[in-house]
Amino acid sequence: MVTPPRAHLFVCANTRAEGSPLGEGCGARGEALYAELKSEVARRGLVTAAWITKTHCLGVCPRAGATVAEYPAGRLHEASAGDAGALLDAAMARDAGPTGPTWDEIDGTLAAMEDLQAKKVIDLARRLSPGLTAEDIKNPHDFPELADPDWHYADGQLTGIQAVRSALSASRRRSGR
Ligand code: FES
Repeated sequence: MVTPPRAHLFVCANTRAEGSPLGEGCGARGEALYAELKSEVARRGLVTAAWITKTHCLGVCPRAGATVAEYPAGRLHEASAGDAGALLDAAMARDAGPTGPTWDEIDGTLAAMEDLQAKKVIDLARRLSPGLTAEDIKNPHDFPELADPDWHYADGQLTGIQAVRSALSASRRRSGR
């Protein structure tokens, strides 16, 4: 599955026909802005989080700079190559909005669940065999006392929580947040 970008900027690099009443179009100014945005995205390691796409005419045809359409904010900008950094900053700062918990809040909840479940697993193991350590129970097959379905169920739940936490952490890295 492809993770959608946090921001997608469409940069016009269209050149209008000579003598067009709307001027020469964004043309070379758009090409320069597109190139600058691409290198800024690469420099910041945002290749999956910020997508930059070159387009034809967006219907604005500014006298200076080039037209940029910003998604998902739905904004139009007139910008030059020198504006690339600020344009990217603004687009990344606008992403998502207050639509739900932050990555840190989700990870905090999962970390608390993991701690609670890990305690349950070691407590249960020690009821089956006092003296077992947290290291021991990582190798349950070395301890026949742990051949207990309730302990394995609790340990499986712990593994599930850890797997979800690890998957979310990988998604967070991919999204650049
Ligand atoms: S040529 Fe760029 S918006 Fe029209």
